[in-house]
Amino acid sequence: MKNGFGTKTRKVAVVGTGFVGSSYAFALLNQGIANELVLIDINQEKAEGEIRDLNHGMPFASPMHIWSGDYDECKDADLVVITAGANQGPGETRLDLVEKNVTIFNKIVRRIMDSGFNGIILVATNPVDILSYVTWQASGLPKERVIGSGTILDTARFRYLLSDYFHVDPRNVHAYIMGEHGDTELPVWSHAQIGGVPIKKFLNVENVAEHPDMKEIFLNTRDAAYHIINRKGATYYGIAMGLVRITKAILDNENAILTVSALLEGQYGVNNIYSGVPAIVNKDGIREVLELELNETELKQFQHSAHVLKETREKACQ
Ligand code: LAC
Repeated sequence: MKNGFGTKTRKVAVVGTGFVGSSYAFALLNQGIANELVLIDINQEKAEGEIRDLNHGMPFASPMHIWSGDYDECKDADLVVITAGANQGPGETRLDLVEKNVTIFNKIVRRIMDSGFNGIILVATNPVDILSYVTWQASGLPKERVIGSGTILDTARFRYLLSDYFHVDPRNVHAYIMGEHGDTELPVWSHAQIGGVPIKKFLNVENVAEHPDMKEIFLNTRDAAYHIINRKGATYYGIAMGLVRITKAILDNENAILTVSALLEGQYGVNNIYSGVPAIVNKDGIREVLELELNETELKQFQHSAHVLKETREKACQ
């Protein structure tokens, strides 16, 4: 969007200043990615407290205009990030949150769109794949401009655990987690490499998925949130940094390939579902969903994950 001086702003609005929203704002400030940030929360005192705390760190970061406001502030935002809603308690799955968060989301999205917003919406609240679909439907925005955080954090966890196991820089591990951001997600071992070398060559095995250490790494990836929630009550740093990564790809028009939640229209044999897939992300949102050659097991797992998401959504949105 253009500001009064005709120059390009990089304005982000965050709905929800709980653990995830405030951690996202903190990470955005420290990485200097946006120049305008407005925090919107039903609890305005909380938002105001976050703003003051963040602004006092400003001398240690690049200048950024940060303030708290209402939904009318979304009008000229480039990106609205929705982190508001109920989050997982101990023993709760992400899908357990669907009923209450669908209701909350329909209200939030209506208020965003009533402002005259015409940018990109990034959804972080769980169950993120279903809430991304609900946001797309309720907003009327084109599919490419409604993005879910998807499995960007799962892929990061996967890469970190693999890097720790093989003693390499996590930035040189190329491996995806796809599907639901949740219990039915799947590791794409058939395309997992380190520095361009397939992991099966590092392990000298034919079927990586059956290697006991790799099985353990995937389970620790998939169940990471439960282990963190049981210890500290919530997760927020990892997801906040994943949201900033997506924000950077949008604001810097990177055409970066990230495993976000995107609407599928036949890719991987799946229709009318948002799910975590590698996609090219730029200033216009999702430029393209990449269709990997999954092996038979992976394709079956992906389609099962999509089926669970569709069933859950249809039950919740009856
Ligand atoms: C997690 C939350 C973001 O996986 O679902 O930590």
